[in-house]
Amino acid sequence: MRDEAARRAPEEGAAPPVEDPASTPSEADAPPDARRRSAPHAEHSARRAARGAGLLEAAPAGALPARHARPGRARRFAVVAGLAVGAALLLGSSAAVTAMMVPPPDPASATMRLKSEPSTVEQLPVPTLEQTPVVTDLCTVPEFIAALEARDDEAAIVAAGGGEAFRAAVAAGRASCVDLADPARRWAVVNKLRPANPVDYRPTGLIMPDGVRNIEGGALRSDAASALTALVAAARDAGVGEVALESGFRSYQTQQSTYGRHYAERGAQADQVSARPGYSEHQTGLGADVVACSGACGALDDLAATPQGQWIADHSWEQGWIVRYVDGATPVTGYLPEPWHLRYVGPELARAYHDGGWQTLEEFFGLEAAPDYRD
Ligand code: DAL
Ligand code: ZN
Repeated sequence: MRDEAARRAPEEGAAPPVEDPASTPSEADAPPDARRRSAPHAEHSARRAARGAGLLEAAPAGALPARHARPGRARRFAVVAGLAVGAALLLGSSAAVTAMMVPPPDPASATMRLKSEPSTVEQLPVPTLEQTPVVTDLCTVPEFIAALEARDDEAAIVAAGGGEAFRAAVAAGRASCVDLADPARRWAVVNKLRPANPVDYRPTGLIMPDGVRNIEGGALRSDAASALTALVAAARDAGVGEVALESGFRSYQTQQSTYGRHYAERGAQADQVSARPGYSEHQTGLGADVVACSGACGALDDLAATPQGQWIADHSWEQGWIVRYVDGATPVTGYLPEPWHLRYVGPELARAYHDGGWQTLEEFFGLEAAPDYRD
């Protein structure tokens, strides 16, 4: 894929560099991603690439990725418990949850009971299994629909039974009213195959995050801004030091300029480090590039080697963020690792993402990999 991209002549696919005539006061004037070192990252190992590619080829849409195919006992129990909660939501019955979460009977005690039962097969009681109703669609849950219509994404996810129940329903095709292409939703997936809709989408409610050193003066959507304020405070309280915002919201026009600069430097390889206009999470107001500061602030590429970078990798989920482009996930995301690029998904989804050990939003929701653009 990468070789193919590298071979692509500019006139065959990549958009030409475009001037940036329309930056607004809420957007960065300095070139986003400009503080990334110019030397390209080393490609991920062939083993990891092969694993990623194989994983996606093997898994049909909606299926769990291969590394989740043999869940541990705790995870299996969690899955069963999650299904039980989903069933209870549909039934409106806490009894269903209770019944399904009771451990199976001890085989030894069952044997003891059978010793006093009739000895012939014909006389043995025939057990009857209570039918467990299948959750046909999350969108039949009134509380979920109400929250969805109120555009309260977090309440909707809670009504679905929490982040994991929501994820599982979406990935299994049991959430027909959930639109992963809606760029205003916390569950929006924007990648090389899924542009913002409309392509020049601009979110409402952009604000500057409080209490955050803001290198380019970038804005974020208000919920993401609050969550970044919380993240910066939590990092400081944890003693790892200062985290600053390098780049937040970027409009379609600003991304034209950003991508154009990368294209001028790298040609078609710009696609490995920068999204084309209309395809960047920064356009949703939910993407934030962060850097570490110790007096002066470092560059994007410096973050990973700092205490702040390690803390972000381990703890940013606690404030509702995920690290969107991680090492080894290039065959799925289409981008080289960006440990500085955080995506706000809200506390419920971030917890499910972390607890499930997910590495990409595409796998999380059972979507196809997006290593490159269609054209
Ligand atoms: N650097 C990321 C992929 C973006 O341009 O959105
Ligand atoms: Zn970014």
